Amino acid sequence: MSTLITNIGELTTNDPEVSGTALVLEGDRVVWVGSAKEAPPVDESVDVEGRAVLPGWVDSHTHLVFAGDRTAEFGARMAGKPYTAGGIAVTVGATRAASDAELAAVIKRHVAEAVSQGTTYVETKTGYGLSVADELRSAKLAAEHADEATFLGAHLVPAGTNADDYVDLVRGEMLDAVAPHVRWADVFCETGAFDEDQSRAVLTAAAAKGLGLRVHGNQLGEGPGVRLAVEVDAASVDHCTYLSAKDIDLLASSDTVATLLPACDLSTRQPLPDARGLLDAGATVALASNCNPGSSYTSSMAFCVTTAVLQMRMSVEEAVRAATVGGARALRRDDVGVLRPGARADVHVLDAPSTTHLAYRPGVPLTHAVWRAGTRVR
Ligand code: NIG
Repeated sequence: MSTLITNIGELTTNDPEVSGTALVLEGDRVVWVGSAKEAPPVDESVDVEGRAVLPGWVDSHTHLVFAGDRTAEFGARMAGKPYTAGGIAVTVGATRAASDAELAAVIKRHVAEAVSQGTTYVETKTGYGLSVADELRSAKLAAEHADEATFLGAHLVPAGTNADDYVDLVRGEMLDAVAPHVRWADVFCETGAFDEDQSRAVLTAAAAKGLGLRVHGNQLGEGPGVRLAVEVDAASVDHCTYLSAKDIDLLASSDTVATLLPACDLSTRQPLPDARGLLDAGATVALASNCNPGSSYTSSMAFCVTTAVLQMRMSVEEAVRAATVGGARALRRDDVGVLRPGARADVHVLDAPSTTHLAYRPGVPLTHAVWRAGTRVR
């Protein structure tokens, strides 16, 4: 089955060599981009009547394997209580108590919600199980229902457990069980979670198992997260809310992507990260939703893009890039977040003539149509 999408008002390809006003999808791939009058023969044609077309959002940071609700914690925070890592334990309790079917339903519901808003590629994590059995089933569910799965056994030390014993469990038996099901390992390297040595121990063990690395770092204060992520060549360090000048320099001279999570910073009443400093220094920036029930309960990548433009001094082009090809770089992929022949056919049509409308019309749902791996899903 081949589909010509034509009469595109503005086409964002994220590839300077590729431009046009029409594109052809065949199977799950983009096979052609150019001017409609030169298009190859196709099975069907869709006229988008001058709308903007861009790659689907690549959401490179979510925590969708969860159960339960933390509305009360959010309400208390909005009334002035600080966010702490400790809230994770509430979700761990609810997640352990949920059935596999209940957890699968939660992941599917949130992925569907994201897809309906233009997200076409989703990473998700374990991290609310924190026992061998619960992390293993979380990993299997993440791998089954998302595009990429990450092991985050080092999310929080479970209550009543010695931290060093828990680190040994995570880097030993838990990692052995989970590794066949995931591509990535992550640690929450932060005061109240795992310190630098504990984080390094988990990351090096995961790398020895062949997993790619990611780090949650610099979320609640300056700390070793960025430094450690760069040291171990992590694909991304996520949050980056509090960065020193040295952190920015390190990121700019590394292959580690700075993944910014503005919805999380707003929902936890933290400052927004220094996107401008990162971009001006030459770092690669990604934007992601961090969809989770505690610190950032949104699947809206458009909200993140809008916030990045209106409040983080990113241009529309920079924010759209960060939420598409930036997310792909954070997942070390070159087949998503771009529209060029050979890329996955992940296409987002806005009900607007340009991506500028994402910031110009904040909060307005602008997704008109979505193809995910070549299938029209909206
Ligand atoms: O990315 N920072 C650590 N983990 C999540 C929060 C999870 C939670 O509060 O449940 C995050 O913000």
